[in-house]
Amino acid sequence: MNKDIEEILYSEEQLHLTTGNMAKLIDNDYKDTLPLLVGILNGVVPFMVSLVNQITIPMNMDFIKVKSYSGVHSTGNVQIIGYVPDVKDRDVIICDDILDTGRTLIELKNQFLSLGAKSVKVAVLLNKVGTRVVDIEADYKGYDVPNKFVVGFGLDYNELYRNLPYIGVLKEEIYK
Ligand code: IMP
Ligand code: MG
Repeated sequence: MNKDIEEILYSEEQLHLTTGNMAKLIDNDYKDTLPLLVGILNGVVPFMVSLVNQITIPMNMDFIKVKSYSGVHSTGNVQIIGYVPDVKDRDVIICDDILDTGRTLIELKNQFLSLGAKSVKVAVLLNKVGTRVVDIEADYKGYDVPNKFVVGFGLDYNELYRNLPYIGVLKEEIYK
C-alpha cells in the first residue's frame, strides 16, 4: 500500500464488480437506444474504462474537461474548457469519479439539456454523503462514502495518486 494512504476503502477487485453491476443496469435501461456516455476528465478515466468494458449494448463515448471556480462566488461556476460533445437529441449519461457538492454535475446537466440533449442521467463511482450544496443525486452510483478525502482509481490530490488501482483515504498529514 502507498505510504500516504491511511486505509484502503475499495480494492481493485471490488471496484471491478461494482462497475460491472452498474454496467448491467445501464445495459437494461438503455437497450432500446444508443446512449452517449460523457466522462469528465481527468478523474473519470479508470472508472469509465472499467464501466464501458462491461457494458454490452451499443454505446458511444466522449469526454469533456471542466474548470471550476469557487471562493468569490458562493454558487460556484463550472465551465467547459474547449471541445463540447454533440449531445443534441442524445440520451446522455454524464460520468464522474465522485459527486461532492454537486455543482459540477448540476451545471453540466443543465448545459447539456440546453444544448438539446433528449435525456441526461448521472453515473458516479462515489457519492459523498452530506456534502451537497445543490439539489442533485446520481442515477447510478457505486458507493456512498463519508466526507473524507479519498484518492486513487482516478481521484487525485494535486494531480497525484490517480494511478493507484484502489481507492483509499489520504493521510491528513499530506494535505493539512
Ligand atoms: P463537486 O462539483 O463538488 O461535486 O465536485 C466534484 C469534483 O471534486 C470531483 O470530480 C473531484 O475532482 C473533486 N473531489 C471531491 N471530493 C474529492 C475527494 O475526496 N477526493 C478527490 N477529489 C474530490
Ligand atoms: Mg479533482
